[in-house]
Amino acid sequence: MKNIVISSLLFSINLFATDGYEVYKKNCMSCHVEIMQKGEALKNLKSMKAPPMVEVSSRLKENIIIKDDEDDIHRHLFILFVKDYITNPIIGKSMCNAGALERFGVMPSLEGKISNEEKQAVAEWLYDRYENVKFE
Ligand code: HEC
Repeated sequence: MKNIVISSLLFSINLFATDGYEVYKKNCMSCHVEIMQKGEALKNLKSMKAPPMVEVSSRLKENIIIKDDEDDIHRHLFILFVKDYITNPIIGKSMCNAGALERFGVMPSLEGKISNEEKQAVAEWLYDRYENVKFE
């Protein structure tokens, strides 16, 4: 009985939580494809509007370095960066390589098109979706 109460409680919380993947599909997918291998990305560069999400996620994970190996802090800093970048993208913050920046230009700000809750959800999704998925 207790289990039923707990699981239905979790279920109802879930119903209201913002789904990061839905946010991705609504706000990011038109430019960033979800998954693609490096070789394929290089071949399709001309038809792409932005780096694939798997590349964005793995580059940020590599570039955000913390002294002690705390996964929680790493994830937290990653999420902070992404949330900020979505509405304040500027060239000085981008970790994209120079060639890609030249090719794609800087990401346009999504200010006014996305809520804080959606930014949080999509940033978490971006970290967790590519856990153990490499861009190679
Ligand atoms: C209109 C096209 C477009 C949309 C929509 C878009 N992006 Fe981008 N994004 C880009 C481009 C182009 C770049 C590469 C240049 C740069 O770093 O600004 C980029 C870069 C990024 C980066 C930085 C990567 C780095 O290496 O520094 C992040 C993080 C990012 N996007 C997340 C998102 C998220 C999350 C969404 C949806 C909420 C989104 N983007 C929607 C075009 C877009």
